[in-house]
Formats: sequence, structure tokens, C-alpha cells
Amino acid sequence: MKPVEIADGIYDVGVIDWNIRDFHGYSTHMGTSYNAFLILDEKIALIDAVKKGFEDQMMRNIAKIIDPAKIDLVVSNHTEMDHSGTLPLVMEKIGAQKPLYCSKMGSRNLSRHFPQDLNYQVVEDGGELSLGKRSLTFLETRMLHWPDSMFTFVKEDKILFSSDAFGQHYAGHEEFDDILGDSVMDHAKKYYANILLLYAPLILKLIDRVTQMGLSFNMICPDHGVLWRKDPGRIIDAYARWSKQTDLHNKAVIVYDTMWDSTHKMALAIASGLHDEGIEVRPMKLREWDRSDVMTEILEAKAVVVGSPTLNNGIFPTLADFLTYMKGLRPENKIGAAFGSFGWSGESVKILSGELEAMKFDMVEPGLKIQYVPEAEQLEKCIEFGRTIGKAIHSGKAG
Ligand code: FEO
Repeated sequence: MKPVEIADGIYDVGVIDWNIRDFHGYSTHMGTSYNAFLILDEKIALIDAVKKGFEDQMMRNIAKIIDPAKIDLVVSNHTEMDHSGTLPLVMEKIGAQKPLYCSKMGSRNLSRHFPQDLNYQVVEDGGELSLGKRSLTFLETRMLHWPDSMFTFVKEDKILFSSDAFGQHYAGHEEFDDILGDSVMDHAKKYYANILLLYAPLILKLIDRVTQMGLSFNMICPDHGVLWRKDPGRIIDAYARWSKQTDLHNKAVIVYDTMWDSTHKMALAIASGLHDEGIEVRPMKLREWDRSDVMTEILEAKAVVVGSPTLNNGIFPTLADFLTYMKGLRPENKIGAAFGSFGWSGESVKILSGELEAMKFDMVEPGLKIQYVPEAEQLEKCIEFGRTIGKAIHSGKAG
């Protein structure tokens, strides 16, 4: 139970949100946590706050350690409401005019989020603040994942407070990676695939910068999920690998939906052809799978195969939803292919192909259209289409 002392005089005073199931479109089937950290030194610092509605729990956690009025200063690493929603209330409890340290963009965001006249203290990238025996170093991490985002590093303990980066949407009493075990990487992968993938180039630059600065970490403390203490380098290496998008698996994800089962039959036959070629394959019907779980499967796959029946001269609404979502996350180095059944007009495959081409997928052409219900002969064409995609995956290119 929080609070948890994570190092000598440093506590996680955050809260667990056991029941959240949708985090603005991301399925949080394991809930999440909003971590916040209290550092006891000659000056007492609170790093980040929690989502509105959880303020009483957080203040009770702090009160188990110290009188909250003794907090001298607050650091806001990130202004998204899950970490800032309770800041006005926290400031009111500890003394409204105590300093609130944040980046320049952070002060702009917070002053627009909240009408209160708070005592913003803008920090510079690389700026330091002494707490007494310890000091805080601020590292701006713009667009990871908001313009205001920054990290706070305690060099004396080699602890990085990394805001959203390296997080996982996971609710549990396991405070650390070694207690949760290997499943932490599954949660971290889903989080990366759905929140950070589009910032991959910036992540690679940040990892380079941290390497050049010679920083090493005993612990990385994100604002969601468990803290990395067993091997913090493991999650940094995973972020580097996911961001490069070159170490992909011989795997295809078939993302589709269906009206009267014809496109579904096509999907399974295409999967069979891919399997014939030794490709790992995941058929995922969009009305059964959440878009964020599909994106997680796509992260390390070499190919994405999309299928839709033609509906009202267009594509099925779930495919339109998913393609919009995937486009925003900007996956790279993928082979693409499109298929679908139709009754009379048959536009869906052309539309799907166009969407994937716009995302710079290397397309297996032509896509596959089948009229009405596929019989044995048409299903054989689907299997052959799957084999063709499988061969493209092995050769590394569609053409
Ligand atoms: Fe966990 Fe970007 O907020």
C-alpha cells in the first residue's frame, strides 16, 4: 500500500486507479496508477500530483509521513490532467504561494488549466535546485509526450523521475519491476506502442543525449505503473529498439471487420497462407479487439494486412477508426496489404490500400477483392495471397 519508501527519505505517495478501463481511447484493462513522489531533505519536495478525484487519497498518503503544510516546493514534470488535476488543491493545502517548479511550457499550460494565481518558477533545461543534501536537475523532454514534459533527476541517488516515459498502465501493489516480474515488459510495450511510438525519433535523440551526458540510473520512476530498479537499462534498451523500428519480427497482423462473415473467411484463409510461409500471424477482428491491443501487436510486426467489406461505397467504420488511430502513431518500415469482400460496387480494397500507401507502407499489390461469399476456389486465392505476403516478409520488400 502507498506510501512506499522507495529510497532513503524518498516516498511514492501516489494512488492506484484500479477501475479505469478507458484512458482517452486506450484500453486500460489492468487499470493504472498516478505516481507522485515526496523527497524529505532540508527542503521537502513533492514531485507531480495525481488525477482529480484522488486528492484525498494522496493527501492522506503524505500525511502518514509528514504534515503536508511542511512541503516547501512542488515540481510539475508534466501538466496533463492525470498528474496536474489536483495541483490547485495541493497548493491550497500546503500554502498557495509556495514555489511550483515547471518548464516554461508547463507554466503556460498550468496557467491555462487553472484560474488560480500560482507561484510558477520556470526552470531551464539542465537547471539545478538544491534541497540540502540532495539536488534536483531538470531535463526538458519536449514532446515526450507534451511540449511541457520534463524529467527530474536526483544525481546523489541516481534516481530519474521520468514523468510518463517508461510507464505502464498497470494497477497493483507491486511497486517495483522485480516484484511484478516479466509481465512488466508487456505492459510497457503496450504503453509505448500507443503513446510514444510517434515520437520515436525524439526518443532516440534523448537516449543519445543521456548517453553523452554519462548519466546512469539506480532507479527510474515513471508516473504510471511500477518503478524500474532491478535493471533500469532494460527499459531504456527496449525504448531504443522499439524506436528504431528495424528489429521487427516475421509476423503479420490481420486487422479486419466483417458484415456477413465473408471478409472474416478471407482473413482466416490469408492467415493460413501466411502460416504456410512460417510467419507468425494474428487475425484481429476490430469489433472483438480494442484498437490499442491491435497497435501493440503491430509494434514489432513486419506486415499489417487490413480487410474490410464495402459498406455504402466505403469501408467499415471500425476500419476508418483504426486507420485514423494507426496513422497518428506513425509506424514505419511495414509491409502492407488490403483485402475485402463486396456485393456490387467494391471500393473498400482501393480505399484501404490508399490509406496504407499514405502511411508509406510497402504495399503488396494488387489487393484482393472477392464478390459475395468466398467458396473453395476463392479461399484458395486468399491462401495464395497470404503466401505472397509471407514471401514479401521474408524478402523484406513487397515489390
Ligand atoms: Fe500520464 Fe501525459 O499523462
